[in-house]
Amino acid sequence: MRIYDIIEKKRFGKKLSEEEIRWFIRHYTEGSIPDYQAAALLMAICINGMDAKETLQLTLAMAESGARMDLSAIRGIKADKHSTGGVGDKVSLILAPLVAACGVPVVKMSGRGLGHTGGTIDKLESIPGFSAVLTEEQFIRQGNEIGLAMTGQSADLTPADQKLYALRDVTATVESIPLIASSIMSKKLAAGADAIVLDVKWGDGAFMKTREAAQELADLMTEIGTQAGRKMSAVISDMNQPLGMAVGNALEVKEAIAALQGNGPADLMEDCYALGEQMLCLGGAADSPETARVLLGQAIRTGAAYEKMLVWVSAQGGDTGAIQDTDRLPTARYRIPVPADETGTVVRIACRQIGTICGMLGGGRMEKDDRIDPAVGIVLEKKCGMRTEKGEPLAVIHANDKKRGEEAAEMCMQAYQIEK
Ligand code: URA
Repeated sequence: MRIYDIIEKKRFGKKLSEEEIRWFIRHYTEGSIPDYQAAALLMAICINGMDAKETLQLTLAMAESGARMDLSAIRGIKADKHSTGGVGDKVSLILAPLVAACGVPVVKMSGRGLGHTGGTIDKLESIPGFSAVLTEEQFIRQGNEIGLAMTGQSADLTPADQKLYALRDVTATVESIPLIASSIMSKKLAAGADAIVLDVKWGDGAFMKTREAAQELADLMTEIGTQAGRKMSAVISDMNQPLGMAVGNALEVKEAIAALQGNGPADLMEDCYALGEQMLCLGGAADSPETARVLLGQAIRTGAAYEKMLVWVSAQGGDTGAIQDTDRLPTARYRIPVPADETGTVVRIACRQIGTICGMLGGGRMEKDDRIDPAVGIVLEKKCGMRTEKGEPLAVIHANDKKRGEEAAEMCMQAYQIEK
């Protein structure tokens, strides 16, 4: 078999066989296929697609490309959640302790930022001392002891996805339904949870631009998970403006902490509750979404979810003092307000642009080995539907480089559309 022939076949829009898919994944993971040929195949898949059978085979080949977690030693139905990625999406930081506080163990492998979207592990690492590197033994022990553990993708789990994910990020091949479905589901299957709830986002700030495409992705991933024997559920959510008010790693951690203390913005909380309902139902802690919502609300009101966050951060080596006093989280040197250029109502916020601005400030990666700056980002003051007076701040840029911050403020102003 030759990689050249596989690339050419897909370039002509033909279906790849299971043998070809497995051969590609094995040789790319081993390093005998160079990045430039893998990138060419990814681009051909992006343009010509893959059917459900090819996508399932790609997912299974990727899931089997490395070690797989055996979570059977953790008591109960283990739940995992995954978002297809958005801007200001700090849901996992809130949902994980919230669901764990309701008695469903959450053991989760999370990713880093990709393209214009942020990643949960980058956000968690803005908490001083927090380690997202857990051995399988630590992961299982923590899952049993506190019902909550979160780890980054370890080198031996889905190595095929690790290489492909990084390559896609820098070759404009992220936005493809079969590539996203196989990337997400290979990790989810290898990570071993019994119940998987997917947050499939659509809109300007998401990889899926329409609700229909998001539904297609959700159905495909649900089908793959079900065929692999997992309990599956998917929520479709809107990403036409950033979720909540904060975009940027430490800024989002701050907002998540406020949410666990009962002060979360409505859109963010609604997403957390919609996903939490599914996790509690699949995890056996509630028999209906309505009952689940009551339990989730109680866990916030009683402080149980916030307490769980503290226990979790401490278990993973993080400084709980920085959770109790969020001024101790990384803070940027400059705060630059973005004034409204006219009086009226905000009708649109170019969501992807806000994610890109955060990346440009240093909060995301332009290249796969870039270091990120945890302190920088954007805090929105106005969201769609809100009135503003000319000169009032629409948002505040948090920057460590003044010039970049000023450029970001200008770009942010352009991202807002205001109508009289
Ligand atoms: N998240 C992933 O894990 N993979 C993708 O391809 C896109 C979002």
